[in-house]
Amino acid sequence: MPVITNINDLKRIYERRTPRMFYDYCESGSWTEQTFRENTSDFDKLYLRQRVAIDMAGRSTATQMIGQDVSMPVALAPVGLTGMQNADGEIKAARAAEKFGVPFTLSTMSICSIEDVAENTEKPFWMQVYTLKDDDFMQRLFDRAKAANCSAAVITVDLQLLGQRHKDLKNGLSAPPKLTVKSVANMMTKVQWGLGMLGTKRRFFGNIVGHAKGVEDASSLTTWTSEAFDQSLDWDRIRAFRKMWDGSLIIKGIIDARDAIEALNVGADAIIVSNHGGRQLDGALSSIRALPAIMDAVGDKIEVHLDSGIRSGQDVLKAMAMGAKGTYIGRAFVYGLGAMGEAGVTKALEVIHKELDVSMALCGKTDIKDVNRDILMIPKGFEGDWQTSGLTVPRLAHNQPGAWPTDEGQPGPTRRAIFTPCTYASAG
Ligand code: GLV
Repeated sequence: MPVITNINDLKRIYERRTPRMFYDYCESGSWTEQTFRENTSDFDKLYLRQRVAIDMAGRSTATQMIGQDVSMPVALAPVGLTGMQNADGEIKAARAAEKFGVPFTLSTMSICSIEDVAENTEKPFWMQVYTLKDDDFMQRLFDRAKAANCSAAVITVDLQLLGQRHKDLKNGLSAPPKLTVKSVANMMTKVQWGLGMLGTKRRFFGNIVGHAKGVEDASSLTTWTSEAFDQSLDWDRIRAFRKMWDGSLIIKGIIDARDAIEALNVGADAIIVSNHGGRQLDGALSSIRALPAIMDAVGDKIEVHLDSGIRSGQDVLKAMAMGAKGTYIGRAFVYGLGAMGEAGVTKALEVIHKELDVSMALCGKTDIKDVNRDILMIPKGFEGDWQTSGLTVPRLAHNQPGAWPTDEGQPGPTRRAIFTPCTYASAG
């Protein structure tokens, strides 16, 4: 067993053991991959403040996400085709997550179905929902999630069509993989992966095949997203989905404060600041840079989570210090899964937990719930000092101190009226 000390160690093993098509699917952003790169590199621009001689015994990373206890504020993000990275991958990842005490989110684009995961796990998981044109399919998806005892629905709002990832087109990405000379030659070098796949019947999009109508080729992600996904999705339709689901609701894919307010108005319990891991709008801000403006707009009204770019416990700590109440890992757990199955996902969680715990202690904090901006050094202009464009966003601009009363009733800079339009002076 190799000595694994960080997420990159898992990534190296994952790359060796997984067919190129699925490694590339995971490890790509859209078009130039600018946003994909900056999601991680922007974390490096934030510095942590070390403190010393502060009692660091008795630490806790435990907290809550949407009222549910978590051993650390790190959920497993929904990742399409996880069961192609390693046989029965969604079941393995869900089991690792439940043992670790963190939420697992099952993608609509999973290989194992909702029912497969429910039958093979003990605790409720979260169900990610893509919005398809077919209303019957949507109603059934929510019903199936309820029957499977899912404890939250996560509606993704940033993927009605696919951002282009060049490698997926060149590789002819599909589930199961199409057998071409190139793909077969590559798969023959991935013996463990192949044996796993031969030993399972779960090789198709388990939530779609046999459930969605009007999909000609359900093995090709590109084809079925373009055929089945609802490009006319708007907030009214999301409100209709809210009525189909009476449990906790999380809206994923928010990167602009105006959309955060819409999600709040829909009655979501939490939002996820996310650019889909840099896989959709290339050129969008990294999630961590987008977070402050969204915190300013809605942070005191709704739980704000962050995904995209997290590869370490230090990244989790920085996101929490910026005000997030929870974070998600996607690629980081897939590296572990592809490297070593369930044990690899557990290893990824252990690595991140240790980094989070020790870094928090070195910042002089013993409880993740007490972490705030005091532990951070944020470079001037981190959020962006953009030229004004006349854009109106419903929040108080940073440079208008004293306009709103503080808790003590005195004028102060800390309160915002989120429904009052103002000019975007210094946007995130
Ligand atoms: C689906 O979620 C994707 O990003 O491919």
